[in-house]
Amino acid sequence: MLLTRDEMGFDFKGAKFDREKDRDLLAWIASQFLYGEVTGIQVGHWILHAPDVESAKFLARQCIEELQHVDVFMEFFKWLGARPVKVHPVVRFLSSESDDWEEHCALEMAQGEGFVLMIFYAIINCIDDDKLAKRLDAAARQEEGHVEFGEQQTMKALAKNPKLRKRLLGLHLLSLWVVKRFEKWIGKRVDQDHPVMRQIPEYLGTIIKTTDVRLQRMGMTSKPLAEYGKLETFALITGAVTRKVARKLMFWRWFRKKRLTHTYMHDEYLAEVMKLAEVKNAAGIPVIKAA
Ligand SMILES: [Fe+2]
Ligand SMILES: [Fe+2]
Repeated sequence: MLLTRDEMGFDFKGAKFDREKDRDLLAWIASQFLYGEVTGIQVGHWILHAPDVESAKFLARQCIEELQHVDVFMEFFKWLGARPVKVHPVVRFLSSESDDWEEHCALEMAQGEGFVLMIFYAIINCIDDDKLAKRLDAAARQEEGHVEFGEQQTMKALAKNPKLRKRLLGLHLLSLWVVKRFEKWIGKRVDQDHPVMRQIPEYLGTIIKTTDVRLQRMGMTSKPLAEYGKLETFALITGAVTRKVARKLMFWRWFRKKRLTHTYMHDEYLAEVMKLAEVKNAAGIPVIKAA
């Protein structure tokens, strides 16, 4: 990953949730995770749009891992003795599906799963149960792999097509704007007497700052997001949203999309065996030269 676990961590100064007193609150938090993990399973859909065989293999593994994370939250609800509740609209918005592979890797994987990973770290620190914390830690390590894949794919896409930067940056800014609104909303409602919850506004501020660093390290922005003026931010967001709507209307793009079945013969993955076929037999079929 482009950021270490320490850089993504937040010091809650030993504050812990209380399983009995915080049952409703913990059920609400776990319900947001549960929704995110279920949207994670749907990553299987992106295999159809994977640019190469290695990426398709990664997505297949990720799909299994997200299913395992659903199991972790099933355990969480059993430990808590509570039922899941409906997801918050902000979480639903932040988990909404992307329109193309580049958007999926940048928005859902590098940034979105980066948010999720930071919340995983926070829950691990603030939960008062070692067994559950270990299960969550194993899931967090798998999430680190998902974030790293998103970062690497995004950097590859930006190197190949620098014009993508403007559109993707506008969408990142839109997500962060929503998180900032959420930070203000929650700041007015947190229980100031709760040892963990009173630190949430500061914690959300850290998530925003950390995301800013990730975007800089991916090369998505050449300056910190705090240096973007209101007008510049507004122009980038409206530009990205307009392009997103326009792209949805371009139905012919769907017919131009290449699947693995079109590209696998030229894929790096097959390069080794493709090199072996150096001679042709009497029927003109390439065969492997005898050693
Ligand atoms: Fe997950
Ligand atoms: Fe994930």
